[in-house]
Amino acid sequence: MKALKVVGIAVGSVAILGLVAGFITWAVLANRAPEPLPPPEIIALDWWKTCVLYQIYPRSFKDSDGDGIGDLKGIISELEHFVDAGVDAIWMSPIFTSPMVDFGYDISDFFDIHYEYGTMEDFEELLEKAHSLGLKVLLDFVPNHASNESEYYIKSEARDPFYEDFFVWADALPDPNNASNRLPPSNWVSQFGGSAWEWNEARQQYYLHQFAIQQVDFNFRNPAVQEKMFEIMRFWLDKGADGFRLDALPYLIEANPADHEGRYPDDPLSGLIQFEPHQLGYTIPIYTKDLIELYDIVYEWREFIDQYNEEHGGDTRVIFSEGYANVTMTMLYYGNEDGAIGAHFPFNFDFITDLNSESNARDFVYIILRWLTYMPYGGIPNWVFGNHDNNRMPTRFRKDMVDGLNAINMLLPGVAVTYQGEEIGMRDGYVSWEDTVDIEACNRGDPDTYHLYSRDPARTPYHWNNSTNAGFSTANRTWLPVAEDYPELNLAKQKEDRISHFKNYQALTALRKEKTLSHGEYDIRPLSDWTFYLVRSLRTYDTFVLLFNVGDRENTVDLNRVPHLTLPATIYVASIHSTREGGHVISNSQLTLSAGEALVLRAVPI
Ligand code: GLC
Ligand code: MG
Ligand code: CA
Repeated sequence: MKALKVVGIAVGSVAILGLVAGFITWAVLANRAPEPLPPPEIIALDWWKTCVLYQIYPRSFKDSDGDGIGDLKGIISELEHFVDAGVDAIWMSPIFTSPMVDFGYDISDFFDIHYEYGTMEDFEELLEKAHSLGLKVLLDFVPNHASNESEYYIKSEARDPFYEDFFVWADALPDPNNASNRLPPSNWVSQFGGSAWEWNEARQQYYLHQFAIQQVDFNFRNPAVQEKMFEIMRFWLDKGADGFRLDALPYLIEANPADHEGRYPDDPLSGLIQFEPHQLGYTIPIYTKDLIELYDIVYEWREFIDQYNEEHGGDTRVIFSEGYANVTMTMLYYGNEDGAIGAHFPFNFDFITDLNSESNARDFVYIILRWLTYMPYGGIPNWVFGNHDNNRMPTRFRKDMVDGLNAINMLLPGVAVTYQGEEIGMRDGYVSWEDTVDIEACNRGDPDTYHLYSRDPARTPYHWNNSTNAGFSTANRTWLPVAEDYPELNLAKQKEDRISHFKNYQALTALRKEKTLSHGEYDIRPLSDWTFYLVRSLRTYDTFVLLFNVGDRENTVDLNRVPHLTLPATIYVASIHSTREGGHVISNSQLTLSAGEALVLRAVPI
């Protein structure tokens, strides 16, 4: 018994001795500065993966010849603006020959420049000058439809054998209640209101138009149509275009009558009683939108562009896809887990469709993480805050949020997309019913309701300075009125002011050159109901922290909860209405932010 006890104590002592030794080693190590981490390996990224992409709405950017309509020469004269702003690539809404029913989204000649915008020589000059300034130029490619004034449609109507099936034609249905009446092939509703089918006397058939009557839907079940698309893309790539924004993809292909007993199936009814049969919303578009077959068409475009890149070398040409769809259908545009067989990316409209001035910090974090969570592993994210189809960013949110919103855009990983005017915080312009020209507003609205549909307020001319027509044009009358706030809100003034949205925008785009932003990790979380942080960090490189109070009142937060942030930290950029400014130092962990206030801090790595 005794011997056993001794052994027991001995074993116990060894264990205790070991513990003590371990503690001493730990204590010594803890007092020593940690071994500095080796700097991370930085692999150069292809240009499009981190670019700032700027959307130009050519009709409203800059008018060079005084007809009240923006044009290519106008854009050429202002290309330095993009360099100055820190933009890497521009994409222009359609500049091709068009009757302008949908302001260029109704193309009558896919191979020529619209006369109001200039000539092919102007376009070539634009490309050359942009490239010499280091800017990429993307075009808007509109594959879903052609103008009813296009040669394709005219020949299709005349049943020219090659073009006969270029569009979606269908016989009328008999009216069971009236033998002398005819009915459209299905109950499909156009995006701009009314039946999606239009009767054609010459062919004694209906044709499909998911948008305006003058925008006739191509028939993508006809291989000759896809061949034509390749031909159009190749034409502009050969001119030197760096890629395309692909328009309205969810509507590319519709249900096949062959799968539905030879007829076009009716979309199910939504049951929403506020809508009448001719109104968008009356049906659920299961046979007209997001059809699974459309993705194969997109993947063929990617294959085409990859092959073009391989054959021609040079910088990568890209395709970015446009479409409003739920997150699952949107992610399919990326293609696969490498994000490498579909569009280089689908535009992310979540800031337009899922967030607004009512959203709190948790909504922001949730919606941002949703994209990053659903995106395939190798995908490149992107962030859009506005475009020519939606109310402008400061109007949908609040004007005190402009700098914060531009800061999220620039600090999140991936591509930052800017719609013309966001760099100076332009708001919606007022456009009266008399001045309204948008087909969607004219078709769907009346003097009382047009403002619910009109896209004109987001399309009013750019504010260059405080001279006549905001420096956009010397015309007596511009195609859309210039917004009234231009004397106070314009680029020239913001370049002069000591503190301005534009100067913040410049500082933010410049920051994207930091390796932390192009290559670093991200962490985003709410600090309270109203304030969230976005941390970008990369081992040995400086850390950047965005703090943004999206609420409409003051909010105090505890900076001890922000990972990777060591105090004191220096402010890199502050909202223009902040009492703080760049260069100020934050040393107190209790921080009170005013309504809409955003701060970007720079801190040394931990
Ligand atoms: C896209 C465009 C929009 C156009 C529609 C039809 O949604 O952004 O402006 O009206 O497609 O081409
Ligand atoms: Mg002009
Ligand atoms: Ca279609």
